[in-house]
Amino acid sequence: MYRSHNCGELSLEYLNQTVTLAGWVHRNRNKGFIIWTDLRDRYGITQLIFDEERTSKDIFKKAQGLGREFVIQVVGTVIERESKNLAISTGDIEVLVENLTILNTSKNPPFTIEDKTDGGEELRMQYRYLDIRRNSVKEKLMFRSKVSMAVRNYLNDAGFIDVETPYLIKSTPEGARDFVVPSRMNEGQFYALPQSPQTFKQLLMVGGIDKYFQIVKCFRDEDLRADRQPEFTQIDCEMSFVDQEDVLNQFEGLTQHLLKTIKNIEPKPFPRISYEEAMKTYGNDKPDIRFGMTFFELNDLSQGKGFEVFDSQELVVGIAVPQSADMTRKEIDGLIDWVKRPQIGAKGLIWVKCNLDGSYKSSVDKFFKAEDLAKWARRCEANTGDLILVLSGEIHTTRAQLSSLRMELAKRLGLRNPEEFAPLWVTDFPLLEWDEENKRYHAMHHPFTSPKLDQLELLKTNPGAVKANAYDLVLNGNEIGGGSIRIHDKALQSQIFDLLGFTEEEAQGQFGFLMNAFQFGAPPHGGVAFGLDRLVAILGGEETIRDFIAFPKNNSGRDIMIDAPASISQVQFEELSLKSTFTKKNNLI
Ligand code: AMO
Repeated sequence: MYRSHNCGELSLEYLNQTVTLAGWVHRNRNKGFIIWTDLRDRYGITQLIFDEERTSKDIFKKAQGLGREFVIQVVGTVIERESKNLAISTGDIEVLVENLTILNTSKNPPFTIEDKTDGGEELRMQYRYLDIRRNSVKEKLMFRSKVSMAVRNYLNDAGFIDVETPYLIKSTPEGARDFVVPSRMNEGQFYALPQSPQTFKQLLMVGGIDKYFQIVKCFRDEDLRADRQPEFTQIDCEMSFVDQEDVLNQFEGLTQHLLKTIKNIEPKPFPRISYEEAMKTYGNDKPDIRFGMTFFELNDLSQGKGFEVFDSQELVVGIAVPQSADMTRKEIDGLIDWVKRPQIGAKGLIWVKCNLDGSYKSSVDKFFKAEDLAKWARRCEANTGDLILVLSGEIHTTRAQLSSLRMELAKRLGLRNPEEFAPLWVTDFPLLEWDEENKRYHAMHHPFTSPKLDQLELLKTNPGAVKANAYDLVLNGNEIGGGSIRIHDKALQSQIFDLLGFTEEEAQGQFGFLMNAFQFGAPPHGGVAFGLDRLVAILGGEETIRDFIAFPKNNSGRDIMIDAPASISQVQFEELSLKSTFTKKNNLI
């Protein structure tokens, strides 16, 4: 038996008991005649005491040689501490050591294993296993485990079956690039790692599985961001004999269950808004609704008054920033510079102060009378003391710019409270997206998404206007899940492939297996996939998913701990029938 108790559980209740503990040496304080050692394991820290008078000579000597992160086992008696530490659960006691076994030594760690460490990000990533010993990282992993267990419990109780789907597959078109794996046995051919198990879960529905789920790794070769990793985890789900309403209710139930079990938040129905409304009201299809500052269009109130900046534009749109009319000129200039940065790209920013005395002061006083500005204020639902900010330009860009400004202001005003959770469904996404560069349509979600069935005629005449039975779950301004009702009819699926620019041969070549399956009694079906990493991060009050992943990749997609990706040996290149850049570089071939 390595241990009778863990390092987080002893208290005055255990006084005078003999215990065996094992863990890492967290810290040593050597006073010459007495040595205190903090022993740490996953559960906490217990103070050990080695005392020249009460500890045997050879054990005391051994204790003098203990270094940071040594792995030790001790046998000792629980005694009351003289000076208590109220900050930790074991702070009333210490263990007077009678026997000490050094289970392993340790090199001095390259950074301190403390909540506030001296190690930089890269160094901690390189020694991730040491970083995981720190409370903050360990707690995030434990939190993730708690969330995924709650997901499993809920879905199991709801009758979902956990089915594993393969990782070595053929490309699935989810919009990102595939990671590919060369096949040794099939010369010149490649597997692709799944961007999601989309086609397989649909095939499981054809297989009669009815309610499927899987907590599954997905792989996408795309640029990294705070909320994106090249390999990430989905809670992937699919159901048969359901319409959109059934799917939304089922997974609203799951999300409410998580909010309740993890955050103790009482369930309330989630608001639903259409994609179109989200874009109009928030300039964004994943709106953060923890705060207001919604968009109000001002074209009719602001155009034709001789102010050219507005007159020629497709959209004039404003937000009322609460209680910010007292911003100084310098602060407003700061905001103007902020929107003019290339990342945002606005040409300028118009402002109107709704002063407390009822008067207005604006950057366009030359063009607009007080009564015009009063109309803007009414439209924007501005109160006295608010600051109205207005952007104009092409509709999509202007909305995106104002949306970025809205989020930035919310951050500055402290309106993005990480302990508040505001979920909503965004529904009725367009089926297709026009790609101006390549002059073709892309599927907005993926090609298996069903159009609204009452819009099938429109598919022939104005495909861009067709809406899909597709939905996203948004939480605090983050897309944490997305799904749709699928096409289960071969003819409609062919029609969509055709619209997406696939020839019949291409569609057959890439998705023949699915189309064939649809001919064998495919049931109506639909589903959703949540990004587990994102969900966990947001429930944990953060937006960077990396900290909630045990071994994440850095910003260049590298695992700097194992140093991957890496070159492979000449033999491997040959076995895989690949040309080696190594041999090319070295003129070996
Ligand atoms: P989608 O592509 O919307 O849908 O992905 C579902 C959810 O996965 C998360 N996600 C990511 N998380 C971290 N890093 C990434 N690179 C990343 N990419 C996506 C997001 C997203 O909402 N097969 C469909 C689902 C379906 O239709 O059922 C799919 O994969 O939170």
